[in-house]
Amino acid sequence: MNLADLNKVALAMVVPGKGVLAADESSGTIKKRFDAINVESTEETRRDYREMLFRSQEAMSKYVSGVILYDETIWQNAKDGTPLVKLIEQSGAIPGIKVDEGTQALPNCPGELVTAGLDKLAERLKKYYERGARFAKWRAVIDIGKNIPTMTAIHVNAHALARYAALCQQAQIVPIVEPEVLMDGDHDIDRCFEVTQRVLNKTFQELRVQRVALEGMILKPNMAIAGKKSAKPSSVEEVAEKTIRLLKSCVPAAVPGIAFLSGGQSDEDATAHLNAMNRIGSLPWRLTFSYGRALQAAPQKAWSGKPENIAAGQRAFTHRARMNALASKGEWEAGLEKKVA
Ligand code: 13P
Repeated sequence: MNLADLNKVALAMVVPGKGVLAADESSGTIKKRFDAINVESTEETRRDYREMLFRSQEAMSKYVSGVILYDETIWQNAKDGTPLVKLIEQSGAIPGIKVDEGTQALPNCPGELVTAGLDKLAERLKKYYERGARFAKWRAVIDIGKNIPTMTAIHVNAHALARYAALCQQAQIVPIVEPEVLMDGDHDIDRCFEVTQRVLNKTFQELRVQRVALEGMILKPNMAIAGKKSAKPSSVEEVAEKTIRLLKSCVPAAVPGIAFLSGGQSDEDATAHLNAMNRIGSLPWRLTFSYGRALQAAPQKAWSGKPENIAAGQRAFTHRARMNALASKGEWEAGLEKKVA
């Protein structure tokens, strides 16, 4: 492992003014997104949609530091035969790859999940590196509910995240470590805070046990936020203040950067929260976005599967990327939302 090079890639992923585009939806998830806009999900429509994003020149060159791809996409070519990975590289962004294989039911823990994909991961990472991937992603899912999460679910997921991270670094690939505490329930922000704190503490404990170099990884956490069905929704200031307090209590300063998931927040909430956190300032790590839905919902709607809407889709994507890029520097303001580029 060359740690200096891993650290360089990690820092480039979280450079102020840029963030990561999570375009790594599995075929099942992208089908759900396409169903919502009445587009059939085929290998070709998935390619066309993602090619539209990666050819958004302004967004990709100015606001996007890296793109997380799904296995299908990393091997696909654009309509003109150029590999999609090359389009990303030519824009100046770094290609990355989702390497987990989704979640499975966790034995003895009803309602809880463990992420799969460690088998043969070393061999797969080698192939992804040869294809151009310089970072990877693994998502663990922790749900909040009555009597969950169990310590068992937190432990096995943290263990798997650290196993994955160590294998990535051995393959000279920067691991994005993503322990996502879902915002699906009716819990309040303090319950989210407490569960996320346990999850992050266990994750960093496992990372240490497995000798993962913290300088060569990126953390992708959820924010401290009330569940979507909570009777007490959180204000922007509260999310920002509690998320920073939470991260300061759990995330070592050696970690170069934190790139949040959007997790079902509205586009504008995801931007406002990131912005408010960066305004607090004096942080040991860089804070940016690694959004999926909060970057793509608008372009998906504008595109709706029609070739004549490609420019509109690219404009919508560029706008969201720009808003989040400003938020990564604490320079976003709500008034900017109305001026779609
Ligand atoms: P969302 O921003 O839609 O949560 O997706 C980010 C991601 O990569 C989840 O694994």
